[in-house]
Amino acid sequence: LSVLSVASEAFPLVKTGGLADVVGALPDALAPHGVATTTLIPGYPAVGKAVKGTKVVRRWRDLLGVEARLLGARLGEHPLLVLDAPALFARAGGLYDQTDDWHRFAALSRAAADVAEGFDVLHAHDWQAALAPAYLRYCGTAQRRTASVMTVHNIAFQGQFGAEIFAGLDLPDEAYAIDGVEYYGGVGFLKAGLEAADAITTVSPTYAAEIREPRFGMGLEGLIDTRRDRVHGIVNGIDPAVWNPETDAALPSRFTARALGRRKANKRAVEKMFGLDRDDGPLFTVISRLTWQKGMDVLVTCLDELVAGGARLALLGSGDAHLEAALLAAAARYPGRIAVRIGYDEPLSHLLQGGADAILIPSRFEPCGLTQLYGLAYGCVPVVARTGGLADTVIDANEAALAAGVATGFQHGEASHHSLGHAIRRAIAAYARPDLWCAIQRNGMRADFSWSESGRRYADLYKSLTGTA
Ligand code: ADP
Ligand code: GLC
Repeated sequence: LSVLSVASEAFPLVKTGGLADVVGALPDALAPHGVATTTLIPGYPAVGKAVKGTKVVRRWRDLLGVEARLLGARLGEHPLLVLDAPALFARAGGLYDQTDDWHRFAALSRAAADVAEGFDVLHAHDWQAALAPAYLRYCGTAQRRTASVMTVHNIAFQGQFGAEIFAGLDLPDEAYAIDGVEYYGGVGFLKAGLEAADAITTVSPTYAAEIREPRFGMGLEGLIDTRRDRVHGIVNGIDPAVWNPETDAALPSRFTARALGRRKANKRAVEKMFGLDRDDGPLFTVISRLTWQKGMDVLVTCLDELVAGGARLALLGSGDAHLEAALLAAAARYPGRIAVRIGYDEPLSHLLQGGADAILIPSRFEPCGLTQLYGLAYGCVPVVARTGGLADTVIDANEAALAAGVATGFQHGEASHHSLGHAIRRAIAAYARPDLWCAIQRNGMRADFSWSESGRRYADLYKSLTGTA
């Protein structure tokens, strides 16, 4: 079974968040289930620099008005296609939020649909690839047999544009319809993909249920609810080649569940690097986009208590200016206790997981979340809001779970000062009991967050759609 996986990011070539990790891991995750995955991403400058030995496999003189080429390369052991369209992607700056985003990602989707007919399944990730199933539906040949899957990694990002862009999409007029690309009087990319795809997946079962409700569906709850029979929640796994504390080159001291004492040297390295006091009290970390979604404003309100409880915090992140400022101000108030590194640093994120005692993830919503999974694998105990994939992957250390020997972290209710503060106090209290803490760490490290089960579920879904089950 052959799959064309289309997205705007893929680790290790280009990454701003978890989407890249998942798209980068899928080919290996699917291969054991008889699925051959080809990944298609835009030719950003970083991608052009990173890929070697490309060859031109296709040319467009006019791909939605621009010249473009498709370059064949490798993503690890697997085939990679890079959409080389300099007019759209060869620029400095961030990956998103450019004034012609509609054009850039419509072109990606159009290119995907043009090549998809050579594959059994077209798998589109998030709004940037979401027009691909729509192009397949409206512009595909009559005898097409390619099935389509639309994965929602975050329904908050929808790719909504004014009606005036429709003319530039090169879709037939009939596509501008309530069951097509039209969305509240404009064009909705994600909406179009959700309508056109044969199946919809989200990255955790709880999120699949949540987005049927207005609070999480962000306007798309009605559509998701109508198509609920086609919605599947498949939780993300972690890539063991990248996230494994036994082999991680970013750790000064590598360790296993049996040799947790070796984490200490990593903790010392974090303290040193962040200029934190050196002590044996609990060290929390945060590795995150600094946004409202991630509950970072709520975290700011809990820092006085965190410090009063004898804990420290090493935070790595970047995002909204007011949150960066608030966190830096807290660090200035508590030298030695709170340290903030604004930026994006992949190796440092590994060191923090391997050295801090616990990771705080107070998200307001979280489709899956990967940093709690990395925390579990690294003995960095997750303290998470009970939502989306966080609810599905962390087992709260309540009496029953502790007695059963399955607790892996701490959950709290909605992201609020009261509820996050309570969770932090619980974690600090548990840390003071080394046997208990160690048991929680080990439970997490022994839990299975590999891709094996989820890889099988994607493969089963593809097979059911193509009639090869
Ligand atoms: P999201 O995709 O919503 O940001 P996830 O938890 O799914 O959330 O994935 C975030 C990914 O980005 C993880 O791999 C995490 O380690 C990484 N990450 C987030 N912020 C940073 C940062 N400042 N530096 C390095 N890695 C980061
Ligand atoms: C999105 C979500 C995150 C998820 C990631 C990968 O970025 O915000 O929760 O883990 O996609 O699926």
